[in-house]
Amino acid sequence: MKSFLFLNFIAIALSSPSPRQNIQCPPFPSPLPTWQQLSPQSTLPDPFLPLSSLLTNTNTQKTNRTSSHKEWFQCRQPEIIRLLQEYQFGFYPDPSQETVSATRSGNTLTITVTGPGNKKGTFKATLQIPSGANATKKAPVVLSLGGGIPSQSYLQAGIAIVQVDYMGVAADSNAKTGAFWSIYNGRDIGVLTAWAWSLHRTLDALPLTTPELNPLLSAVTGCSRLGKAALAAGLFDPRITITIPMSSGIQGLGPYRYSSLSGQGETLENSKQGAGWWTSSTLSKFMGHSEHLPFDAHTIAAAIAPRALIIDQGVGDQFVNSKGTATVVFPAAKIVYDWLGVGDKIGINVRSGGHCDGSGYNGVLPFLQRQFFGTPTTRDYHSLGSYGAALSSAFPWGKDIPPTE
Ligand SMILES: *[C@@H]1O[C@H](CO)[C@@H](O)[C@H](O)[C@H]1NC(C)=O
Ligand SMILES: *[C@@H]1O[C@H](CO)[C@@H](O)[C@H](O)[C@H]1NC(C)=O
Repeated sequence: MKSFLFLNFIAIALSSPSPRQNIQCPPFPSPLPTWQQLSPQSTLPDPFLPLSSLLTNTNTQKTNRTSSHKEWFQCRQPEIIRLLQEYQFGFYPDPSQETVSATRSGNTLTITVTGPGNKKGTFKATLQIPSGANATKKAPVVLSLGGGIPSQSYLQAGIAIVQVDYMGVAADSNAKTGAFWSIYNGRDIGVLTAWAWSLHRTLDALPLTTPELNPLLSAVTGCSRLGKAALAAGLFDPRITITIPMSSGIQGLGPYRYSSLSGQGETLENSKQGAGWWTSSTLSKFMGHSEHLPFDAHTIAAAIAPRALIIDQGVGDQFVNSKGTATVVFPAAKIVYDWLGVGDKIGINVRSGGHCDGSGYNGVLPFLQRQFFGTPTTRDYHSLGSYGAALSSAFPWGKDIPPTE
């Protein structure tokens, strides 16, 4: 045993110029900690601290704080993706248990997913393809839940739009109708996850039907509740190049903490009471105790790094907490992006106007062109616009970032 470890060490030393200790990830607590077992936090939780360090019986709070990029990608990022499913979204279905088939008729795709137990679900999507795109000159694609994209400016920029019929995927209610539920009925999964899943299965369908589009250059978008779902779509599929949540609000990029900065005061409680089906039932147990949540909206954004994320918010939005997203969530997530050396991959478009204003799509277009084509832009996607400065007291851990490698 001893000699095996020694030989192993030699092998690592030979194969790598700077041998490192193998990283042991902190354990994921089991059973899942309840709100009573998690310390309340009035500021945004430190994204570098693992779940096991947030337990009320952990007296050394800073224990096991993420200390390298390698540890982030090997331990903490997967842990975040797991804890968000455990606490908020419900478990994303295993794609290896599914097969996707699709047909195309003109600009309409009919997509059928066959899941566990041979259960099938079918939904539709419509294509808008820029002229000149073909199988050798493939266009990047924005996968959209719902409408709202000013298609002429996108098509002229050489970007295709595929709009998914999300109501055929999962009803926006407790009805559990639609393609997703015909496969996964009975599972404690939120409708946001179902809608996110439909964007991924549409991406699977593109190579089968639409050679003019490049599935390796993709964006996901939606506004309001569909913006929450677009965020989930970016989180759960590393193939997504750019995530574009528009006016997404709470359970998207609106914070649970600092809920009264702007908008109608969206909280965990009023969101769960209004549309409890968007997320899983586990989240309901935190109603009245949202400060015990081991994450906030910035944690979701941070877990998407190093892939691109562009946020759109209107300062005149009377519904969602745009100021909270801009001055609390965005700068907190940007600390993680900056630490990973990809600060230019996260941006925000703080614009005039209200909820789901289509001008937001023109505002983010230069960001997309930069990511997809390398087209430079002078636009400053780190500016908080009329909100001015970040509320840095919301993320005290930002002054103490881990070492950069
Ligand atoms: C820190 O992580 C180690 C494994 O790397 C684990 O044994 C230990 O229990 C963790 N400490 C806390 C406080 O969770
Ligand atoms: C695809 O488009 C490019 C650029 O417009 C053109 O040069 C090429 O001939 C086209 N290929 C096919 C197979 O149509």
